[in-house]
Formats: sequence, structure tokens, C-alpha cells
Amino acid sequence: MISSTMEQALLGQLNREFSSAYLYLAMSAYCSHLEFNGAAKWFKLQYEEEHNHATRIYNYLVEQGVQVVLGEVPSPPSDFGKLLDVFNASLSHEQSMTSGLNDLSDHALKEKDHATYNLLQWFVNEQVEEEATLGGIISKLKLVKDDGYGLLMIDNELGARQAASSPP
Ligand code: FEO
Repeated sequence: MISSTMEQALLGQLNREFSSAYLYLAMSAYCSHLEFNGAAKWFKLQYEEEHNHATRIYNYLVEQGVQVVLGEVPSPPSDFGKLLDVFNASLSHEQSMTSGLNDLSDHALKEKDHATYNLLQWFVNEQVEEEATLGGIISKLKLVKDDGYGLLMIDNELGARQAASSPP
């Protein structure tokens, strides 16, 4: 059993995870349009991960007896600029997600809601990995700048990403 304020806070997080998935699908479409097919695959897998995150929260809410009422998912942008800009936008997005998850964790601790706190710690740890991965990609993109060969090498590397093995 979770409190009604925690229920609302988690429904907000559920919406943000679906919004993240939608944003990454838009980034994937944009990279496909630019013929960066490796980056397009990378963002498509990111979309699937965010969808899994949403499902993890959805499952928890159902387990807690909450009636899940889904909100609207905002339209993502359609133009993200250069490949470096796409990844910078992705990192900024993840940093804001981390900040929101930290606030939610504080909320759970304040309420002594340890079950929700445990759920949220999985997400907090996931954010560390996501931000580190994005930071690494951004560093490489900054190194090659607009060099076509360098960008193609990075795009190839991005295309080697495999789907995460852990289910939601
Ligand atoms: Fe599920 Fe990357 O936030």
C-alpha cells in the first residue's frame, strides 16, 4: 500500500518514462533520416529501455493496488541538429531525469516508504550508467568534430550496441 501522494508522484514518473521512450524514438527517426544508421539503432534500443522502465513502474503500481490512469505524452522535437547535438540533448534529458528520481527518492524516505525507495534505487543506479555512457559518446563526438570518417567510425560503434538482457 502506498500513499496517494506517492501514487501521484509515481504516475508522474511513469509518464516521464513513456515521454523518454517517445523522445528516443524521435531521435532514432532523426538519425535514420541523417543516414546515421548505427546511432538510429542505438536510440531505438534506448527507446526500448525507457519503455521497459515505464513497464517496471507500471507493474509496481499495479502490484500496489493502484488504478493506473495514463496521461498524455508530449510530442518530441523533430530536428535535433548535428549528431553531437542529439547526444547532448539526450544527456541533458537524462540529467533532468536523475534530478527527478532523486526528488522522488527523498519523498519516499520522508514517508518511510521503503518498498518504493528500493524500486527507485534501481532507477537511480541505472541513471549513473546512462549518464556515463552518454558522456563517453559525447567525448568521442567532440574529438572528431565534423570529420566524416570519424563520424562514420563512431556510427559503426554505436550500431554494435546490443539490447540489455535484463527484463523489466
Ligand atoms: Fe528511464 Fe533514462 O530514464
